[in-house]
Amino acid sequence: MSNFWGDLGFIIFLSVYYIIPAYVGNGFAVVTGGGRPIDLGRKFTDKRRILGDGKTIRGFIGGLMVGFSAGLLQLVIANPLNELMQSLIIQYQLGIDATVVERMISPSILRVFLISLGALLGDLLGSFIKRRMDLERGKPAPLLDQLDFVAVALLFGYIVTPLPWAYLVVILVLTPLIHLMANGIAYKAGLKSVPW
Ligand code: CTP
Ligand code: MG
Repeated sequence: MSNFWGDLGFIIFLSVYYIIPAYVGNGFAVVTGGGRPIDLGRKFTDKRRILGDGKTIRGFIGGLMVGFSAGLLQLVIANPLNELMQSLIIQYQLGIDATVVERMISPSILRVFLISLGALLGDLLGSFIKRRMDLERGKPAPLLDQLDFVAVALLFGYIVTPLPWAYLVVILVLTPLIHLMANGIAYKAGLKSVPW
């Protein structure tokens, strides 16, 4: 019998690892954010704000830079981490394709840049949609709030590294849970005014 739990654990680890620049970028926008809003206070044709005060230039640039830095760190440790993963696959006789592991673990500069940029742009797109739905800044939009950033990050990342569907599914299922947990912590720590 193949090592089902081992395989699943591996797929979960690799999926989350792949998308880390998006998580870090999105998370750090909260930390570096503040000041001038990206839409400069302007309104859309529906007389509502284009993006709202929750999307700031500092948040965007800071999030992008820190997310990108996290990706550069992944680049630095890619070789040793890949070797470790490959030896674990042999040791635990996992049914994971070695080339897929390498693809997930060893990013290019372009890929980590696109994943961080996609996260920040996806977050803007989410807010743009929320404003069009007449939801004020900070009002919850279930699933949209948790998935906007990761959806565009995945799309951008896919251009450089196409993922097997199992990995996409794991990321889309786990992200809302991780996002809610992280935001709960940020709320408790006083970084966010609402826990979503
Ligand atoms: N943030 C920022 N600039 C960004 C993204 C986020 O300054 N480009 C900061 C803002 O302080 C924002 C916080 O991170 O309030 C949390 O982000 P998010 O939950 O996405 O924004 P909301 O305030 O909930 O606004 P929206 O309704 O538009 O999602
Ligand atoms: Mg929000």
